[in-house]
Amino acid sequence: MDSRHILVTGGCGFIGSNFIRHMLSTSNTRITNMDKLTYAGNLENLKDLEGHPFYTFVRGDIADEADVERAFKTPVDGVINFAAESHVDRSIINPDAFIRTNIYGTYRLLEQARKKGTARFLQVSTDEVYGSLGETGKFREETPLAPNSPYSASKAAADMLAMAYHKTFGLPVIITRCSNNYGPYQFPEKLIPLLVSNALEDRDLPVYGDGLNVRDWIHVKDHCAALARVLEKGVPGNIYNVGGGNERTNLEIVEIILEIVGKPRTLIRHVQDRPGHDRRYAIDSTKLRRELGFEVSVPFRSGMEETVRWYVEHRSWWERIKTGEYLSYYETWYKNR
Ligand code: NAD
Ligand code: TYD
Repeated sequence: MDSRHILVTGGCGFIGSNFIRHMLSTSNTRITNMDKLTYAGNLENLKDLEGHPFYTFVRGDIADEADVERAFKTPVDGVINFAAESHVDRSIINPDAFIRTNIYGTYRLLEQARKKGTARFLQVSTDEVYGSLGETGKFREETPLAPNSPYSASKAAADMLAMAYHKTFGLPVIITRCSNNYGPYQFPEKLIPLLVSNALEDRDLPVYGDGLNVRDWIHVKDHCAALARVLEKGVPGNIYNVGGGNERTNLEIVEIILEIVGKPRTLIRHVQDRPGHDRRYAIDSTKLRRELGFEVSVPFRSGMEETVRWYVEHRSWWERIKTGEYLSYYETWYKNR
């Protein structure tokens, strides 16, 4: 019987909460979830797991040495680091927390993992570290890092530190770089939940610039399944790209959402572009497919229908968020756009 103990950081956010639920329903892994509960961390995302014998929550900051030491008190067989400041627009308003959590926090985790030892250190990264593509080409694992936002620069720095810990100290680090996720429990500052919730409230749908920027969308279920596969079978010292093979312009995303919720195109509002806005992301996941036998399984159309249904059925979840701290962020960002 598999009785590994995995330390998950940032498990109260979007991908982390989906990942913990995935692991507890598909394996016998014991999970400790350490989360600072920033604006993006929500205990409600894992309410159904309260009292689960294999699940423990501890409130803690990955950038706090004492908190990280405490998290490693019980031997840790694997670490998966989701904890991060994750929103590009917030990193443009104020990069401070991005530098502290994404870089210094990752360093604290690596340092403690090195001292205590662990069989795997999985750093959850992003395709944004590669920068921006023109009309053709795809990011491969060897593509040079060329981040353009404070967010992606902080993630690239963390990747480099993590790989340096592998090379210098032999820490069994693996990095995954995934494209844009969508699905349940995504904070409604990100494109898809923002558009869905705004459309349901008959509010404007803000589209940056011409709306022709391209992202490669993957359902969070597929990302979580890929992470579980990498944790199990990935080779330390390696980087694995994870993509949906599903490139869409932002305007296509808007159209799909309007069609599913049955609202008019008059809700679309072109607003001032994001500074340094990456034009196109596209991921080549051949390595993950060939070496670890991983394939995505959620078709985009049904994944979007199911996602929209989730936001319709969980209106109180996002309404509470949208009337909290979020409101002042939203109003600041969209003022004069
Ligand atoms: P999220 O913003 O929804 O969640 C982040 C979580 O980290 C929150 O629960 C927050 O409370 C916690 N956290 C923040 N700072 C912390 C700290 N100092 N100590 C402990 N916990 C802290 O983010 P997400 O969308 O779930 O992304 C998770 C990870 O996946 C991030 O590392 C992100 O860079 C990466 N990623 C995200 C996407 C995407 O499309 N969302 C794509 C590729 C990679
Ligand atoms: P986002 O969800 O913030 O992810 P990322 O910037 O990390 O890829 O944005 C996805 C795309 O949608 C990106 O091209 C910016 C654009 N966008 C809008 O057009 N309007 C919005 O209100 C938001 C939040 C994003």
